[in-house]
Amino acid sequence: MGVIDEVKQRTDIIDIISQYASLTKAGRTFRALCPFHSEKHPSFFVYPEQQSWHCFGACNTGGDVFSFIMKKQGIDFGEALRLLAQRAGVAIPSRFEPGAESEERQRLYQVNQAAALYFHNLLLDSPAGEKARSYVIGRGFSPKTIADFQLGFSPNSWEGLKQYLMDRGYTESELLTAGLIIEAEAGKTHDRFRNRLMFPIHDARGRIAGFGARVLDDSLPKYINSPQTPIFDKSGSLYGINLAKDAIRQQDLAVIVEGYMDVITAHQNGFHNVVASMGTSVTEKQVSSLKRLTKNITLALDADAAGDEASLRAVGYENTLDAEVKVIILPRGKDPDDVIKEDAKAWQKLLGEALPVVDYTFNMVTSELDLTTAKGKSSAVDKLLPIIAEIKDDIRQAHYLQKLAHLLKVSERSIEAALTRIRPRPSRGRAEEPKQEVATHLHPLLSSPIEEYCLALLLQHPELKYRQEGLSPEYFETSENREILIAWQRSDKIESLKEGLDSATHEHLDSLLTRNLLSTKIEQKYAECALRLREKFLRSLATKIEAVLALEAQSGGRAADLAKLKEQGVEVNIQLGEVFAQKSRRRSEQRGVRK
Ligand code: GTP
Ligand code: MN
Repeated sequence: MGVIDEVKQRTDIIDIISQYASLTKAGRTFRALCPFHSEKHPSFFVYPEQQSWHCFGACNTGGDVFSFIMKKQGIDFGEALRLLAQRAGVAIPSRFEPGAESEERQRLYQVNQAAALYFHNLLLDSPAGEKARSYVIGRGFSPKTIADFQLGFSPNSWEGLKQYLMDRGYTESELLTAGLIIEAEAGKTHDRFRNRLMFPIHDARGRIAGFGARVLDDSLPKYINSPQTPIFDKSGSLYGINLAKDAIRQQDLAVIVEGYMDVITAHQNGFHNVVASMGTSVTEKQVSSLKRLTKNITLALDADAAGDEASLRAVGYENTLDAEVKVIILPRGKDPDDVIKEDAKAWQKLLGEALPVVDYTFNMVTSELDLTTAKGKSSAVDKLLPIIAEIKDDIRQAHYLQKLAHLLKVSERSIEAALTRIRPRPSRGRAEEPKQEVATHLHPLLSSPIEEYCLALLLQHPELKYRQEGLSPEYFETSENREILIAWQRSDKIESLKEGLDSATHEHLDSLLTRNLLSTKIEQKYAECALRLREKFLRSLATKIEAVLALEAQSGGRAADLAKLKEQGVEVNIQLGEVFAQKSRRRSEQRGVRK
């Protein structure tokens, strides 16, 4: 059982709420003056069977025990969970504690640090490191640079590192997990990095997450890396971030280049706000990891990479950052390392001339076309409109629509019409087709199958985001589900969802993300379950209102309160009527389809 469920199971909402409100029993419910607003007549109810609460007065809202504590104390979900966990005597595993690292991860950072030291010392002054020393000197790296980046040398030996680290108490299995050794055949392991120049890859906090390693000659592969490990994800890391982060914050700009060598040369020449994506094209994860430091990013693209696809992706980063991404195009055949070494001022100048990626794409596309001809115009539209369509920010999108209309000398309206024909295409669903839908049979208090099914659908099928089923967080009774829905509504990418969520919900989120769903008729299933959720919400509200009305009638409540409640009841019933009408429409549609 997860921590959240355990806390729920050991917590009684009546116990908790009675600390903040004086509850009196009323039938199967408890009522009180609302603890959230001042009132003379009690409109706050607690439902022990559902472990939920509702205020029919000014709040006109309700939820479970977590949302009560969140609202009452003005804290977020994670804080409420920790508070209730402590009270219930449930230990929160340390991996959920912000800042605390599991012991396993700490050991991995330590073993990487020990390995880096081993490599570094070998580069500095071992006879075996002679060739590597002359290589780095040949590339123009100063002793300070070598020290700052903790560059190293892995000797041409099968077990040098393995022996060194095992002598220091690290186990073979830790070395395997860290990716420092590999299992060649069953039971036999040897060093992964041999006879290479070593680049420790630090995270923003300065811990070594993994390594990059370059050959000392022209042999291939030129670079190898640590594999994916519990602490290393290459596609989410930026080389040099530990040394660049202060400069990025101060200059309010991050420059992303491709390679290790580019970063090192840039820093040595005083350009400290430079980090590398390490070969692969920049990823969403890398961009969002910079968000805390700056919104301004300049990508150094080589002339070949700067095509439509790169522009489309860069617009995605703009959406993530909610800011413009600029690009500089490197002279053909050169990388930043070459440019800076040749003439640091030329690099400075390139940066100064960086263009917003969409403007750059406009220039690139239109310079190849004859915009006085119909053919040229429509081909400009074909190339540029999909890029404009990706821009989320309305003002910037309108700006580029105008710019395009102006360039082509056609009306803005015709461009807008073309735009409405190409809506942003959400990414396709998952590649694999899971065979079986897995049912969950949990305690009804602990989980809500329909809430979770609906969330799993949303999370696994990003294209559903553009469907307007009007799901409201209120429909989710369970706070952790509510939190996930809210985070999903706010984030543009599943990958960045976790950032907006307390770590205590990650386990639950992962279970939703990996739940087996049949991938047929997704849109229909989603529409159905959104409707069912709405129905469930309205039905439960209607029942609650009826119960309150019955109570009020018995106790001779005030006429004004009664009238207001009745009004609410009528409203809920109208909405329920709509739901039923929609349901019967759907049913007859489906009958129609079957015929
Ligand atoms: P130098 O040739 O020494 O100047 O290195 P470079 O950093 O300029 O390399 P290059 O321009 O060839 O590649 C840019 C970046 O792509 C490198 O810094 C690496 O991060 C990555 N890269 C290049 N080749 C390989 C490879 O064979 N394997 C992997 N995993 N990454 C590579
Ligand atoms: Mn290079």
